[in-house]
Amino acid sequence: MNRPVYQSTLDVTESEIQSVLKPIEEATGMPNSTYTDQGAFEFERDHILSKHWVAIGFAEHLSTNTVKPMNFMGIPIFTAKDKQDNIRVFHNVCSHRGMKLVDKERKTNGLVVCPYHSWTYSVSGGLKATPNIGGVGVNTIENFDCDSKGLKPIRSHIWMGVLFINLSGEAPIFEESAAAMISRYQKLMGPDAEQLLKKGGDDSDLSISLKCNWKLAVENYLEAYHLPFIHPALNTYSPLSKHTPEIFSDNAAGQVTSTFDPGHSSDHPLPMLPSWDKDQTTTGEYPVLYPNLLLGFQANHVFAMIIIPESPGTCREELSIFYVGDAATSEEFDTQRSENMSAWIGVFNEDIEPCERMQIGRNSPGFTGGAFSPILDRCSHHFHQWIARQYQN
Ligand code: FES
Ligand SMILES: [Fe+2]
Repeated sequence: MNRPVYQSTLDVTESEIQSVLKPIEEATGMPNSTYTDQGAFEFERDHILSKHWVAIGFAEHLSTNTVKPMNFMGIPIFTAKDKQDNIRVFHNVCSHRGMKLVDKERKTNGLVVCPYHSWTYSVSGGLKATPNIGGVGVNTIENFDCDSKGLKPIRSHIWMGVLFINLSGEAPIFEESAAAMISRYQKLMGPDAEQLLKKGGDDSDLSISLKCNWKLAVENYLEAYHLPFIHPALNTYSPLSKHTPEIFSDNAAGQVTSTFDPGHSSDHPLPMLPSWDKDQTTTGEYPVLYPNLLLGFQANHVFAMIIIPESPGTCREELSIFYVGDAATSEEFDTQRSENMSAWIGVFNEDIEPCERMQIGRNSPGFTGGAFSPILDRCSHHFHQWIARQYQN
């Protein structure tokens, strides 16, 4: 019963996992070590986030003919957007002696040249040149297999303007992995929502650094229990009493509210999605697509917040807001976008302290996974169970 489910610098025992998997009334959460230990961070990287579709950024933040390095939980990767605007993701390492290839975001002419010995790759991944490989002035050698020494590609997909990767290459196709979320999104916002919604400019982007494990940022978003205490202003126009925790699928859960009515600039409102139910204009939905994409669906704007794990005790939230058509960027709606962003900044800033104090609490031997409200913590427990099952796999 107490066999380790994996061993590195820490043990997580089967009995700790089983405790999470109990019915919610009796369950505890994931053990403290999974929030504080480097070994758990790396385990989750290699056995959870790498095996699923994990959000890493926004497609709109990538420029044409540009490569951009990223650090995915310690693994160097880079994106390459070619002149036809195809986006690819690669391991950021040269096939020769393993140098990190791309050190900063920069324009390309379609080629990526390693600074060490000038091996040259195309942005579609092929190894195109190997200067001096056969001695000075001899750029090719017989039987050297260039085809197997190109850039190492990482599977990627874009949905809702969010760039996802699947490092292991083994997840079902994105449309299958996120089927429940995609159909919910289309039902609420219409089949053409992806085309209609446009990402706002810089005024619609927000980045927040948090001193907490990435899971705590997700868990905090999954419950509205804290709303009256942490978000008193939000609770006036979107009260806890109007929220319902919903499980959408094995890998998605979150809050649905019947009442999201901030009353911004009602004399000249932001345009609504044409397919949104006209009788339910104050509906708001706040699902999490596991592992790390937090979504907000409202009649006149949608947001996506990516939780980027940085270390066991730190993560970053990257948020972008999307509006209907020209409302995303036109001056006509500058004030409304700014008002909307200010309200969300207020809400997300209010969540920083609780998340960081939960992280500090994970250092306490007096806390052994805690407990859940069977009603209001339903979605948080669902996420804990999903994580616990990944530890078992
Ligand atoms: S390490 Fe890149 S060319 Fe040698
Ligand atoms: Fe909150």
